Amino acid sequence: MKKDKYNVAVVGATGAVGEQMREVLEEREFPVGELRLLASERSAGQFLEFQGKQHRVEILTEDSFTDIDIGLFSAGSSVSAKFAPLAVAAGAVVVDNTGCFRMEPDVPLVVPEVNPQEIANYKNRGIVANPNCSTIQMVVALKPLHDAVRIKRVVVSTYQSVSGAGRKAMEELSQQVAALFNGRELKKEKFPHQIAFNCIPHIDVFTEGGYTKEELKMIDETRKILGEPSLPVTATTVRVPVFCSHSESVNVETVVKLSAAEARKILREAPGVIVADEPENNVYPLAIEATGKDATYVGRIRDDNSVANGLNLWIVADNLRKGAALNTVQIAEILIRDYL
Ligand code: A2P
Repeated sequence: MKKDKYNVAVVGATGAVGEQMREVLEEREFPVGELRLLASERSAGQFLEFQGKQHRVEILTEDSFTDIDIGLFSAGSSVSAKFAPLAVAAGAVVVDNTGCFRMEPDVPLVVPEVNPQEIANYKNRGIVANPNCSTIQMVVALKPLHDAVRIKRVVVSTYQSVSGAGRKAMEELSQQVAALFNGRELKKEKFPHQIAFNCIPHIDVFTEGGYTKEELKMIDETRKILGEPSLPVTATTVRVPVFCSHSESVNVETVVKLSAAEARKILREAPGVIVADEPENNVYPLAIEATGKDATYVGRIRDDNSVANGLNLWIVADNLRKGAALNTVQIAEILIRDYL
């Protein structure tokens, strides 16, 4: 029998994504029975608000998942590796926002606007993986174009906000800006270089071929989500001194010619997309305008005249919402609607 309410655990509740999870669950009126907010011992004793009530943050332990129906995980890969299987063993379904399970063949990697049917495969392991933030917003925009004219190759460069690296990274940007204006010494902990007034072409660690793991995530996850295991994709991921929302310059080659006007029309009708593309009025997607919103914004749509069938796009979305908490909650909504 279907439940009216579901007990939800948020793992990493005190983090930048965890905060958005509470907001999105509340805004979308997810039928939450008990809400269990879990974090490390650093947060013990803290209270966080949900639906007008204060909830005590509990320390994550092996026993945290008793009576939990859905676990929303966003506390890093090592936490998911250890605790997601324990949550599943205790009877919960996990939606995992870390990189821990994304590329495991029996774990579905889902963006609800793109491949919601894959959620059925949660049964394999009791886990659905939420993709990397930069990947999510890109595939939301690419899927309708791929359906229309088959994408042949993707070249993406990202301009990723510091919130993608967590709450401490946001504080680091603020503190560096203040330090620079006040002639104080600059502290660098979350980023390998000064992020204030800088761009750092280095997100996650470097791998042997010269790509960072973030770049490989975009390549591998895009292929998995679109169901195109050999689609040529290349990526350069860059951290920029923006607090929230990721921007991406995306160049797409297609099998069949698609004009910019046709692409605009397709994207206007695409789920989860808002076209913001009136260059004559200085209208194009902006990180500061996407922040706090649910949509993926697409603009600067134009023909790439250097190839036969090419298009350029500028894609912006709130990385904490569509790139993380919102996508996770959308997956949970489909789970309870169709499967639990
Ligand atoms: P805490 O605040 O207690 O450190 P962000 O991505 O913004 O850095 O947030 C990371 C989230 O993951 C925080 O809620 C953090 O809790 C939580 N977290 C990190 N490590 C652990 C751990 N070992 N056990 C439980 N929660 C953790």
